[in-house]
Amino acid sequence: MTKLSVNINKIATLRNARGGNLPDLLRTALDCERFGADGITVHPRPDERHVRYQDVLDLQPVLKTEFNIEGYPSDKFMALVMQVKPAQVTLVPDPPGVLTSNAGWDTVKYEHFLADVISGFKSAGIRTSVFIDPDENLILRAAKTGTDRVELYTEAYAREFSIDPAKAVQPFHKAAQTAFDCGLGLNAGHDLNLINLNFFYRHVPHLLEVSIGHALICDALYYGLENTIQMYLRLLK
Ligand code: PXP
Repeated sequence: MTKLSVNINKIATLRNARGGNLPDLLRTALDCERFGADGITVHPRPDERHVRYQDVLDLQPVLKTEFNIEGYPSDKFMALVMQVKPAQVTLVPDPPGVLTSNAGWDTVKYEHFLADVISGFKSAGIRTSVFIDPDENLILRAAKTGTDRVELYTEAYAREFSIDPAKAVQPFHKAAQTAFDCGLGLNAGHDLNLINLNFFYRHVPHLLEVSIGHALICDALYYGLENTIQMYLRLLK
């Protein structure tokens, strides 16, 4: 079964636009869970323009499903994750000012750095995942870091899907097999949506979790949050 983790950063962005507490991030997270989401993902960035560090602390005691915290492992981020102890931390190599994650880790260059960070999280009982492009060598090197999982960066799949779905998914199919052979669990995310998700799900084996934010929250404007979550869940069957 592939789990759906809903990334609620966009809800925080909307809230921050006016400075008050509308929409209420905690309530939305709990509603996502009530509507069937298997997990909640947040990505606190250093400038806190989306989800704030305090949001992460507030969410931890109320969530009932898997909490996944994504981000670059700065000292501040690592201290937050160690305090909150979520089910999973997803390590992303994004520089501070970037609009959204736009690359996976170079696990060759950063193997030892990642191995250090990961061993700290694992000794605290936190599952780790490394955001990565669908490249065989990068996945083999990710396995050497000791991470539990990798999250395949699906932007290229989403971009190429409208041109040639079979060609677009091919590197991801291969990457999934490589990850499985190395004993790595497999997640995926970025730019997945109602149109491209089911094809990905059917062609990428061993997929444990997808994390979806932008498209899902946009779809919720038209279909409502409960309906939208159910629509995404149906595409993972
Ligand atoms: N995975 C990672 C590592 C991300 O940074 C993001 C965006 O915050 C996502 C998944 C979700 O991408 P999207 O918002 O396009 O669904």
